[in-house]
Amino acid sequence: MHKTLMSAPFMARIEEEFPIIQLNQVANAERKGGTSRPDFEPLMYLHKWWARRLGSVFRAILLYSLVDATTKVQDTNGRWRLVNRAEMDNPWALFARDVDCRGKIILDPFMGSGISAIKSLALNCRIVTQDLNPVAWFLVKVALEPLNGQTLQAAFDELERNVAVRVQQYFKTICPTCLQKFSKSRKNSSNVEQKLCARLEKGDDLSAIFHEYPVFADVMYFFWVKQLECARCHVTIPLFKGHMFAHKRKGRVTEGYYVLCPQCGEVFVVQDYAIQTTCPACHQSFSPQVGSVTRNGAKYTCPNPACKISGSIVDHVRKHGKPKEHLYAVQSYCPQCGAKQFTRATHFDQMIAARAEKILKQELPQILGNFIPDTKIPPGYNTKQATNYGYRDWRDMFSPRQQLVLGEMLHGILELKCSDPTREFLLLTFSKSLEYANMLCEYHRVNNYVYNLFKTHAFHPPLTPCESNPWGAKYGFGTFRNLFAANLKFKEFNTRPYVKYVTDTGHMAKYFLSHPVEGYLGNIFEDAKANVFLLNGDSTHIPIPDGSVDAVVTDPPYFNNVMYSELADFYYAWLRLGLRARYPNFRESDGPNIAEVIVNKDQGKGEQDYLRGLTNVFAEARRTLKPDGIFVFTFHHQDDSAWGAMLQSVLNASLYITAAYPVLAEMSTAVPILGKANPQCDVVLVCRPRPPSPDNIPWETIEHRVIITLQESVQIFSKGGYVLSPEDLLVVATGKGLELYSKHFPHVFRDGGEVTIPQFLSAIRQIVKDKLPKLRKPVKD
Ligand SMILES: C[S@@+](CC[C@H](N)C(=O)[O-])C[C@H]1O[C@@H](n2cnc3c(N)ncnc32)[C@H](O)[C@@H]1O
Ligand SMILES: [Zn+2]
Ligand SMILES: [Zn+2]
Ligand SMILES: [Zn+2]
Repeated sequence: MHKTLMSAPFMARIEEEFPIIQLNQVANAERKGGTSRPDFEPLMYLHKWWARRLGSVFRAILLYSLVDATTKVQDTNGRWRLVNRAEMDNPWALFARDVDCRGKIILDPFMGSGISAIKSLALNCRIVTQDLNPVAWFLVKVALEPLNGQTLQAAFDELERNVAVRVQQYFKTICPTCLQKFSKSRKNSSNVEQKLCARLEKGDDLSAIFHEYPVFADVMYFFWVKQLECARCHVTIPLFKGHMFAHKRKGRVTEGYYVLCPQCGEVFVVQDYAIQTTCPACHQSFSPQVGSVTRNGAKYTCPNPACKISGSIVDHVRKHGKPKEHLYAVQSYCPQCGAKQFTRATHFDQMIAARAEKILKQELPQILGNFIPDTKIPPGYNTKQATNYGYRDWRDMFSPRQQLVLGEMLHGILELKCSDPTREFLLLTFSKSLEYANMLCEYHRVNNYVYNLFKTHAFHPPLTPCESNPWGAKYGFGTFRNLFAANLKFKEFNTRPYVKYVTDTGHMAKYFLSHPVEGYLGNIFEDAKANVFLLNGDSTHIPIPDGSVDAVVTDPPYFNNVMYSELADFYYAWLRLGLRARYPNFRESDGPNIAEVIVNKDQGKGEQDYLRGLTNVFAEARRTLKPDGIFVFTFHHQDDSAWGAMLQSVLNASLYITAAYPVLAEMSTAVPILGKANPQCDVVLVCRPRPPSPDNIPWETIEHRVIITLQESVQIFSKGGYVLSPEDLLVVATGKGLELYSKHFPHVFRDGGEVTIPQFLSAIRQIVKDKLPKLRKPVKD
């Protein structure tokens, strides 16, 4: 997309042009990647972070912001040369090439999972990168620091030798097939299960029992249901919405459904769970679709026909505390016979759970606060979703068995004889695995795996928790051992980095870069070897000199979209146990949130606080800019109050907007209602320090230029075969309007009065609304 207005003496290419159409081909593939998405930016996926931006967008931003006559590019013969005029005019030609920006300095004051740092290093820039959140700081540290793959594998192997067997013993169940075989082979085999239970009862060592009886399978998932006691008739109410809990799958085909008999607890397969069925064990008839809880999970009804009282689950929990949980089924993999199966939870399973709980209780005085978090869940917008359901401490989100096992794993990691960076890699992987190994997880009953906790940006305590095996059986999702293998692979990106791009034939391909993407941490202004100044703190203060960075490239928090600190505290509670001795930023019991730039009523932060925070960080970042440096950030275009606050912050920080581009979510012909912008539509905003005394501009001039830009954009895109959506048009119009408005603010006049920010935003919306019917007609050449 081209801009027509020239407005500053030194122009970065991004102020004149941005390759929206080409970029969106890559960006759409990256955005839609699903599980293959980490293949685009593996280092960002070493750990959970929320609202991660796209690497392709950041690479394009950096190229279009930095490429100048000093930039070098590597030719196919391997020789480096200065870029030529054509490449300077069209940096897109450099997207899938080796480019050297020769140590230019980038600042990101809101780094999150560090995409700007990764992309800057790939262009041989130096970076100052800061985040308020210690978890973000830690994950970027582990992502950037060079580590040796073999050393990591050796450390994992040692950990496996030290703890795997011990932790796996609590995730065993009796394999019915192997039990039958074993019983037949023994003369006196009547009721092996009873014998096993008796051994447990006696307190016998688990490993001795497993050794003696070759009938055990490894548990992938335990299925639990929360229960209430009816306040009127005292009957136990299992909080099931229905009794079908998994599909029976062969590959992608569903061959039946696993259901649970509400009368006797039998697990069996039906062909249709929408119709009445009869339990093969107790011969009672029931409808698997019917449970005691409403579809939305809010209300229960007592199943006792003589009672039938209903009520709100949250109210019940408030009055009576966190509901008890009952184990009803198991999914396991048997290494002896190879069966992967769902079975009803037996007395033996209940006893193993009880054993783990008992041992946890015994060991708690030694491990609580050392290897298991002892911290409380702080009040907050997201955290109250959990505290409303009776969770008080962070450890309440884990079953006693998971606490015991995770505590052993953490202990094992901290005791390993290895270097600190190696340990930190394992610690980060351990922390990543917590998202799958907690009792806020639910089972995906169609795809048959555990849903990760943060599938939404929230804590949603389920009525039917799925307890997964933290270390992991051979199969299972999100287990420590699988995540370690994945992270090890992701970490190869440091030494073998690449750029994914779209070939002329429309296929995705990888271009391997010749330079590693490795961070040498230190103060880049003092240490010549350092290329990353990684900081953890409030970006209202960034400890670097005035006028020292070539470009600010960042992605600020978007209003009330994600409560980073509240969600990250889930990890912080565990990570601090392993990091507080080395890093002061992990000493406090919760991660910092006072300075967090966010709208969060539960933390007492309104729109004015967001505005103040964003202004202060923008102003601080502007202080560090070189006189001809530019300031680029991405933002969502969703509602006017967020835009208003963002615009006000830009102006307060003495910046103005010189260009704005939509990074289109999807180029489609669908026409959603104007005003409800697609939240996936990101905008790239380019700013510069504002002229000291702006001159006047009449509103009509802005209006006129906006309309012309809209018409031009529609033409440019339709030639490329795209129809701009109303949201995209709104971004184009707002962007163009902002360039003029922000440059002349506050001297923008309409009917003799100054145009305020809210008036500006609504006037732009009106222009797009008025012009929409014409703009969306196909353009004829
Ligand atoms: C939108 S996210 C950045 C995401 C990042 N671009 C990525 O792809 O992962 C905004 C970040 O700003 C951080 N943040 C909020 N207030 C801050 C402050 N006062 N100083 C520094 N960082 C802050 C949050 O912790 C969050 O990680
Ligand atoms: Zn009742
Ligand atoms: Zn039954
Ligand atoms: Zn078996």
